[in-house]
Amino acid sequence: MSDRYIEFANSSFGHRLVGALGLPSPVRLERWQAGRLRPVEGALLIGGGPLAQHVSAFANRLTDAIYRYGTEPSMATEWIPGHGPKLKAVVFDASDLLQTGSLKQLREFFQPLMKNLDHCAHLVILGRDPQTLTDPFAASAQRALEGFSRSLAKELRSGGTLQLIYVGAGAEEQLEGPLRFFLSPKSAFVSGQVICLNPCDTPVTDWTRPLAGRKALVTGAARGIGASIAETLARDGAEVIVLDVPPAKNDLDALAARLGGRGITLDICADDAASQLIDQLPDGIDIVVHNAGITRDKTLANMTPEFWDAVLAVNLNAPQVLTQALIDSGTLRDDGRVILLASISGIAGNRGQTNYAASKAGLMGLAQAWAPLLQDRGISINAVAPGFIETQMTARVPFALREAGRRMSSLGQGGLPQDVAEAVAWLAQPGTGAFTGQALRVCGQSVLGA
Ligand SMILES: NC(=O)c1ccc[n+]([C@@H]2O[C@H](COP(=O)([O-])OP(=O)(O)OC[C@H]3O[C@@H](n4cnc5c(N)ncnc54)[C@H](O)[C@@H]3O)[C@@H](O)[C@H]2O)c1
Repeated sequence: MSDRYIEFANSSFGHRLVGALGLPSPVRLERWQAGRLRPVEGALLIGGGPLAQHVSAFANRLTDAIYRYGTEPSMATEWIPGHGPKLKAVVFDASDLLQTGSLKQLREFFQPLMKNLDHCAHLVILGRDPQTLTDPFAASAQRALEGFSRSLAKELRSGGTLQLIYVGAGAEEQLEGPLRFFLSPKSAFVSGQVICLNPCDTPVTDWTRPLAGRKALVTGAARGIGASIAETLARDGAEVIVLDVPPAKNDLDALAARLGGRGITLDICADDAASQLIDQLPDGIDIVVHNAGITRDKTLANMTPEFWDAVLAVNLNAPQVLTQALIDSGTLRDDGRVILLASISGIAGNRGQTNYAASKAGLMGLAQAWAPLLQDRGISINAVAPGFIETQMTARVPFALREAGRRMSSLGQGGLPQDVAEAVAWLAQPGTGAFTGQALRVCGQSVLGA
C-alpha cells in the first residue's frame, strides 16, 4: 500500500507546507537496485581507533572514494570539514575509548560531519562489548556508546541511519559483511541498532552471490514480506523453496517459477507438517526462514480461545516444532541459518495484540535460548523484528493507527518488504555465523519498544 503523505511531503508545494507547519518530513529512502555492485556510491569516511585499519584493508571493495579524518596520515585522502565531499558513509572506531574523558572524541569526530552528510548517509560506530571488559570504567565507557549512537541516530536527517557494532575479539576479520549491509541502502530502514559480532570461520567467497550453493526454505512466501525474502535470497544466489497454505498455490507456483525454485503447499500447523516437510527436503536445507504469521487482534477482554490458539499455533508453535524436526532429522545442514520473523510488538507490546506479541516475544526468546545449543554445528538462529512494514497485513490496520505506526519512527515512514528481506538475506550469509541469538529490528528506529 502506498504512503501518499511521503509523495506529498516530497512535492515542491508539500515540502514548503510541511516545513511551514512543522509536520514530519519523511524523505524517499534510497534502496538497493538490481545490478548495483558497490555498497557505497559516494564518499566513505573512516576514523577513530585501531579497528579503522581493519576497515581500510577492504574499504576499496566498498567504494573508490575513501577519506580519513583524525587518523593516521597513511590512510586515504584527508577529509577537511567544509571542503571535503558530502559523506555517504562513515565508520568510526570507538573501541579504544575506555574512560569517560576519552568519550569527548565522539563529539569531536561527529560534530563537523553532521552538516556534511549526503542524502541517506549510513553511519557505523565500532566498539567492544562492555560485558567482555573487566575494568568497570572501561565497560561503562563502551556502554556509553549505546546512548550516544541511539541518540545521534535520532538526530540524523534526510534518511540517515546509524548503528553500533560491538566487535568481539577475533571478529575483526568479519567486519566486511556487516559493513556491506549497514553502509549500503540494504539497511535503509534499520537504524539505532546495537549489534554484537563474534568470530566465525565460514566466510563469504563471492560478494555478488553470497548465498550461491545454498538451499533456502521460506514459509508464508506467497505474498508480502515472504515473497520479497524469497526474491532477495534468489538474487543473492540461493536455490529457494517457497511454502504457503494450499489456497495460495497459484501465487506460490508463479513465484517459484519466476525464481527457478520450487513450491510446497502445506499448512505449517497440520499434525503431520513436520514429516511432510522433511519428506519434501530429501537433500537437506541450509537456510530456514520462518516468515508465515497471522494476526487476530482483540483486547484480552474480548479475545476468543480460537483467536488466541490460531496465532500461537502459526507464529510460535509451528516454528518451534518444524525447526526441532529439521534438526533432529539432520535435514538442517551444518552452518545452517534459521531466521525467525518476530515483530517490535513482541518488544514493546501492543494494545489488542496480547496473542501476537506473546508469540513474537516467544520467537526472540527461542533464538536466544537455542543459539548456544546450535553453535557447535555452526548453525545460527536469529530473529528479525520488523516495525511497520507496508503489506496487506498492515493495510488492514485502521487509518489512524496506520498513520501513527508509520510516523512514530526516526525515519517517519513505514518500511517496505524489501527492507526486511535484505536483513534476512544478510543474516543468511555464511559470514554471519557468529551473529546468533540476537534480534535485529527493521523498524526505522521506531519509538515503540526503543
Ligand atoms: N507487515 C508488517 O508490518 C509486519 C511487522 C512485523 C512483523 N511482521 C511479520 O512478518 C511476517 C510476514 O508478514 P506479512 O505482512 O508479509 O504477512 P502477510 O499476511 O501478507 O503474509 C503471511 C503469509 O503467511 C501465510 N501463512 C499464514 N498461515 C500459514 C500457515 N498456517 N501455513 C503456511 N503459511 C501460512 C499466508 O498465507 C501469507 O501468504 C509475519 O510473520 C508477520 O507477523 C509483519
